[in-house]
Order: sequence, then structure tokens, then C-alpha cells
Amino acid sequence: MDEPPVTLARADTAHGEVALRRRGDVLELVVDGVFAMDTVDTSTEVVLATEALGRHPAPRRVLVGGLGLGFTTRAVLDDPRVAHVDVAELAGPLVAWARQGLAPELAGLEGPRCALHVADVAAVLAGRAGPPGPWDLVLLDVDNGPDFLVHAGNAALYRSPALATARAALAVGGLLVVWSSHRAPGLLAALRTVAEPGDVVDEVVLTVHREGRDLDYALYSFARAPLPGGG
Ligand SMILES: C[S@@+](CC[C@H](N)C(=O)[O-])C[C@H]1O[C@@H](n2cnc3c(N)ncnc32)[C@H](O)[C@@H]1O
Repeated sequence: MDEPPVTLARADTAHGEVALRRRGDVLELVVDGVFAMDTVDTSTEVVLATEALGRHPAPRRVLVGGLGLGFTTRAVLDDPRVAHVDVAELAGPLVAWARQGLAPELAGLEGPRCALHVADVAAVLAGRAGPPGPWDLVLLDVDNGPDFLVHAGNAALYRSPALATARAALAVGGLLVVWSSHRAPGLLAALRTVAEPGDVVDEVVLTVHREGRDLDYALYSFARAPLPGGG
């Protein structure tokens, strides 16, 4: 990882600069000056998808926010039970680069089963932008976690009003899962405040070995109660 990065593309947006950089074999995404992710270890981005998919009996419609380098979305598309994935991504240039296939990691996502939308996922969940819900799965990975934001404006996403809105965007029996690069007790507590009888909230800690250290990442999930009788 000592090689200097080569910038593949960069662009200014209303939410700051977005840049894609290559460092050797590793692809990096920087959003508004904040390291958003790289391809050194994408296991937890994939587990965000597989954990949610494994807990739903029939995940036909899925919303992913945001696109990043496409690992969560690709893992969702690998499940043949999924009929359609909507991806909400705030950075328009990143969506354009994915459509152009600027980096192989991002290429070929959009198609009959997958639509990329340039939108704030909070607005999509509230029905103010993008495709309409409800979704069987809503997978959120728009920050490094509730306590390490990419955009300060995302703070509201992890508070009770927005979480209640996200609950309402779930189909009956649907699941919301939030990725975090750290344990986030505040998010766990906020999810519990919006839970209704029969809903289930939990935390899964994922330990990742990176650069000589063990790091505790976490997934926070909220399962909306199924209809009585399993409907
Ligand atoms: C860490 S990356 C997502 C990584 C992705 N899970 C993957 O597998 O590659 C975060 C992405 O969320 C986007 N983003 C940040 N805030 C957003 C918002 N409010 N709505 C939609 N996308 C957002 C960023 O531009 C960035 O592309």
C-alpha cells in the first residue's frame, strides 16, 4: 500500500468532491474529503447483503443506499430471488462513472434487475425522490457509521424520526440493515424507540483484521413484524 494513488476521476458536486483513486490493485473512493471505502477488504459490505438476504424468506424488492464501489449491490444481485434492486446514490458523478464502466469493480451493475438513482436515500425513504417503496430489504451504507459521517447532513438518518420513516418504507416482514465501521449503541437505542410490537432489533459485530489490527464493524438490523399467520 506504499504506492502513490493515481486519480482515475474526480468531480465537484453540491455535496463536495468525489474521487476514484487506484493504488496498485486497490480502488479507493473519497467523498467530500473523507475516505469512504477501498477494495482491500470488502467482506463486510458483502455481509451487509448476505445477512439481510439470509433473514428474509422472499426478498423481491431491495433498496441499497449508497452505491460506493458496488459490492453490496452486486451481492444482492447474486441472489436469484431478488427481482429488482434500486440503488440511491447522492454523488451523480459516481453513478455516471459506474454507467461508463470507468473501473471494472463498478461496471455492469445497471440492467433489467437493477436501477441506479442519483438521490439522497433519506428522500427516497420518505417518498420525496426516486423510486417508490415498499421494499423487502433496505440496506444502508452511506457513511463510515453513525459516529463517522461522510456528510454531516446524514446525522439525521440515524435518529428516530428518519428510522420511523425507514420502517414505514419496509414491506410487512421487511428488514432494514445499517452498516457501521464501529459499534454504535446510540443507533441501537434509536432503533428500539421506533420498534412496534413484534418488530425485532439487533446488532451483529463483525471482526475484521486490517493493517495488523482487529476492528469491530457492526450491522444494525430492524425487522418489521410479519402479519399474524405469516402473511
Ligand atoms: C461507503 S460507500 C458504500 C459502499 C457500498 N456498500 C459498497 O459495497 O461498495 C458510501 C456511499 O454512500 C454515498 N452517500 C453518502 N450519503 C448518501 C445519502 N444521503 N444518500 C445516498 N448516498 C449517499 C456516498 O457517496 C458513497 O458512494
